[in-house]
Amino acid sequence: MQRLQNIFNKLWKIYTEQNPSVQKIHDLFTAENESVTNDHIAFRTFNLPEISIDVLSKPFISKGYKEAGQYFFPEKKLFAKHFEHQDKNLPRVFISELILGEFDANFQNLIQEFVDHANPIILKSDDLIFSGRIWGKPSFKIYEKLQEESEYAAWLYVFGFCANHFTVSVNNLNKLNSIEKVNEFLKQKGFRLNDSGGEIKGTPQELLEQSSIRSESVEIEFVEGIKAIPGCYYEFARRYPDSDGKLFSGFIAKSADKIFESTDNLRK
Ligand code: NI
Repeated sequence: MQRLQNIFNKLWKIYTEQNPSVQKIHDLFTAENESVTNDHIAFRTFNLPEISIDVLSKPFISKGYKEAGQYFFPEKKLFAKHFEHQDKNLPRVFISELILGEFDANFQNLIQEFVDHANPIILKSDDLIFSGRIWGKPSFKIYEKLQEESEYAAWLYVFGFCANHFTVSVNNLNKLNSIEKVNEFLKQKGFRLNDSGGEIKGTPQELLEQSSIRSESVEIEFVEGIKAIPGCYYEFARRYPDSDGKLFSGFIAKSADKIFESTDNLRK
């Protein structure tokens, strides 16, 4: 499993370098003697054949991951799959894609245009998942235009292929062993939670509770100059056993729908 661990380490390195507050939270947990393990990590993409879920999942599938769930998000026009490895110490991999057919031709053309500028060698490489924005320097004008239709698309245009978030497994924490305790801890340390749909998404009855911090602002060099926009976020998940005593391993679409809004700082 060495190679898979290398993939996650590399994704973590890129993620925390771009979003220093994530490393800060991780360090605050370890300072409390908590062992931080990942419930899942998540990627975003468009449903174009060259970069679809099926393409992004390849490096994981080839190393033993298997598809374990499908999800629809009609309001956000997203489809997602999650993948699991038989080694339960490895995180689930959650990959969503924007369904472009649900948007008008202008929007679709705008996206096809910058995807066409992607380096074809990177598109065919297993390194695609680490490659970030592969269509050159972004335009703030295009970013704003995309944002009018889909905040998800705007984020993806600027950040591209990287971990959109890692998720701490609350089940594996000792002292901070509930979502409530984790949220209190984060707020005490000055972090802002995503409270869209409430600070806690999901219930013990649904077998999954999740929370997340709002993405921090990161400075991006646009064609028009440097601007600060929301980057990645950190998520927290607590799973409950089902009636057979088996820990729930899937996702709850209506909760994930609200978690997507963690990169949306315009939303109050
Ligand atoms: Ni997530």
